[in-house]
Amino acid sequence: MNVLITGGAGFIGANLVRYLLERGEDRIVNLDLLTYAGNLENLAGLEEHPRYRFVRGDVGDRQLLRDLFRTHAIDAVIHLAAESHVDRSLDAPRTFLETNVLGTEALLGAAREADVARFVQVSTDEVYGSLGSRGKFDESSPVAPNSPYAASKAAADLICRAYHRTYGFPVIITRCSNNYGPYQFPEKLIPLMITNALEEKPLPIYGDGQNVRDWLFVTDHCAALELVLRQGQPGEIYNIGGNNELMNLDLVRLLLLELGRSEDLITFVPDRPGHDRRYAIDAGKIRRELGWRPAHRFADGLRETVRWYLENRSWWEKIRSGSYRDYYAQHYGPGGRYGARDPEPPA
Ligand code: NAD
Ligand code: TYD
Repeated sequence: MNVLITGGAGFIGANLVRYLLERGEDRIVNLDLLTYAGNLENLAGLEEHPRYRFVRGDVGDRQLLRDLFRTHAIDAVIHLAAESHVDRSLDAPRTFLETNVLGTEALLGAAREADVARFVQVSTDEVYGSLGSRGKFDESSPVAPNSPYAASKAAADLICRAYHRTYGFPVIITRCSNNYGPYQFPEKLIPLMITNALEEKPLPIYGDGQNVRDWLFVTDHCAALELVLRQGQPGEIYNIGGNNELMNLDLVRLLLLELGRSEDLITFVPDRPGHDRRYAIDAGKIRRELGWRPAHRFADGLRETVRWYLENRSWWEKIRSGSYRDYYAQHYGPGGRYGARDPEPPA
């Protein structure tokens, strides 16, 4: 197949491009705008690959999309391009609506015009909102997003659903829990904590650190996306999760143990506004229907991730010495949302 991957220069996208090129015979076209989160170094070594092409552009650019679908005779789309960070969505929701909602609709329109056979919308468990201490999200859980990021992803999912219901367009939606692994931009929890610890900087824990996330190694997500692409039922939603819930504070302690650094680096900072308390995914449907299971145990995935950041210091040092410094200062510096330090977690 000729597969269009959008957002292939980002964290999950770059892992997916590599995964599909290694495993299959597909030809991959990667459409990415190269925003702050897109990085061609994530795809180093693939430049001359005979089954890979990179196109720089916006998923909202209809003319570019028309040309691209025609020129590359695209058969299927895996749509990952998005603004993906909750904290940035608190500062600038509009960008999230432009890329995640309007961009998705433009892509759906062009893909439908080109009559593609499959369109996989890569969504998130965050569209379901927050859980209490019990229960898990399944595919019939109501959509109740809390952050502008989650709301923009939920809106995109709904326009995907409408394209299927109205036009019979073969869209499949996946909703995955928190990913971790190589190439993750160091604004997200795990790489932020690893890189801060390696630089002996404070590790900012929002609120009481008791928020729970379900963690999945990124290539396990990639394997699920490949299965959905080939065998998923159009019109269906598939939840993807690691069955691996951890409180943030416990996760950061595990990282420090792995890195051999002191827990004194842990710093409690004010909570994220609207911070979802807990996510947990029931991935029974994709397991039963498509035979998917995560291959990585969390301890192994975390060790592999830590090793990757240790061995690829120049990758993250380059990021952290660029515009990231302004982002970090604005959010975590004095006067920033997370700038005030509490020696103890809030009671
Ligand atoms: P990321 O921020 O690392 O990468 C996003 C990529 O999209 C970047 O390469 C960026 O340049 C590109 N992009 C942004 N705007 C674009 C535009 N207008 N046109 C073309 N390209 C554009 O994100 P990620 O963590 O790899 O997430 C990828 C997708 O997976 C997102 O849709 C996200 O919502 C979803 N997802 C992520 C997670 C997670 O834990 N990271 C979990 C579930 C779902
Ligand atoms: P994040 O990686 O931003 O993913 P998401 O909010 O999409 O789940 O954050 C994961 C969890 O870690 C979330 O509960 C917020 C928390 N967190 C911190 O405590 N400190 C930080 O500096 C960051 C970035 C996140």
